[in-house]
Amino acid sequence: MKKRIIAIILTVFCLFFQSLSSHGFAFRYQKYQVKELPYQYDSLEPYIDEETMILHHDKHYQTYVNNLNTALDKHPELYEYSLADLLKDTDSLPKDISDAVINNGGGVYNHEFFFDIMTPKKTNLSGNLKSAITRDFGSLDNFKSEFSKAALSVFGSGWAWLVSDSDGKLSIITTKNQDNPISLNLKPIIGIDVWEHAYYLKYKNERSKYIDNWFNLINWDKALTNYSENPK
Ligand SMILES: [Fe+2]
Repeated sequence: MKKRIIAIILTVFCLFFQSLSSHGFAFRYQKYQVKELPYQYDSLEPYIDEETMILHHDKHYQTYVNNLNTALDKHPELYEYSLADLLKDTDSLPKDISDAVINNGGGVYNHEFFFDIMTPKKTNLSGNLKSAITRDFGSLDNFKSEFSKAALSVFGSGWAWLVSDSDGKLSIITTKNQDNPISLNLKPIIGIDVWEHAYYLKYKNERSKYIDNWFNLINWDKALTNYSENPK
């Protein structure tokens, strides 16, 4: 009898919430939180030092998360959308927070992408991404050369990306500040942070050395997954 009463209460509860949901009431109000690194702070040594990773993750990335939440708190209904959805349609953002979401939401999106596209493990370019890089750049070495040039060319703070269009064609682009490819309707495959905070402690003004060494950290398995979600 007791079980039956509990079952009835649960059923009524579920019907109540389904009814609210069908009338447009939202339940997700989840603030953004810092994601843990998928490796230790010192795991990317000697290419990226532990102190840089601590500052990058615990201070810079954390600040973007905090500032994004501060902006969205003014329009909490936007917590309903994924960060990618917000960044894909920045024209629809409320004017009073659009710059803050573009800069800090971009900062969150880009840093989570960046931390995930690096690994201390040795991985190799493979699968249809390997074929596509050969097709669109001639060879992996040529791709690296073109990517390095692009990353070096970023004036001030920004990013260099390997991106795919909707047909699976690859290209290299750069973005300034925390702008990112998804706002341009392009899919990021790999991306390097060339803000000085990403390398200055170890490399000082030698961005080219940082870029050269960064190639040792690319998680090609993750890059393949990124590309294979759009495998044309
Ligand atoms: Fe950064």
